[in-house]
Amino acid sequence: MTAEDKKRAAAQAAVDYVEPDSIIGVGTGSTVNHFIDLLAARMGDRITAAVSSSEASSERLLAHGIRVVDLNEVRKLDLYVDGADESNTRLQLIKGGGGALTREKIVAAASRKFVCIADDSKLVETLGAFPLPVEVIPMARELVTDALSELGGEPRLREGFTTDNGNQILDVHGLEIDDALALETAINQLTGAVCVGLFAHRPADVLILGGDAGVRTYTAD
Ligand code: 5RP
Repeated sequence: MTAEDKKRAAAQAAVDYVEPDSIIGVGTGSTVNHFIDLLAARMGDRITAAVSSSEASSERLLAHGIRVVDLNEVRKLDLYVDGADESNTRLQLIKGGGGALTREKIVAAASRKFVCIADDSKLVETLGAFPLPVEVIPMARELVTDALSELGGEPRLREGFTTDNGNQILDVHGLEIDDALALETAINQLTGAVCVGLFAHRPADVLILGGDAGVRTYTAD
């Protein structure tokens, strides 16, 4: 089974969580792209609308005829489906490989259930081998870089990349994240940092991993 097959299998399983005639939150990335395509194929016009976490996902949703609405119109969502770059068994995540972390965190915060979908290579014992993305206001880039270095990481600017919010991304290498809650809190305090792609305070509620033997589903303990 290829990684794409595994992602598609996880995405397919996530479609079962979608209630007809509901408004759902939709994340960003290659796994979510499978989810959007499968959702459209299975549910047709029985999805009322979606709140999207990126311009790229909005475009794909709209191409399938799924209406995209502003989060402010709906305030709360029952379900959010998104991918991840890493997950531990507590369903704490690193996200933001696609640069959409801020909107993803907002939609996750507004959602009662967060279903994370990925291929099984994303499950790790300790978070941090995947460089941790931090979205920064451009004028604060070096200020935040120095602060992240003091926290023990090696921040590197994601060259040539601008987020949907007009900001930049620092990818922090060299972290072994033993206490994800504490690190998320510490980075949240840094002036000029908009958002860190660590989802520990709001982890996933369900993790669906596609693998050679099919899908495995984990729930937060
Ligand atoms: C985008 C994300 C994605 O969910 C994450 O990068 C996983 O992407 P993919 O499904 O392509 O592996 O956080 O900001």
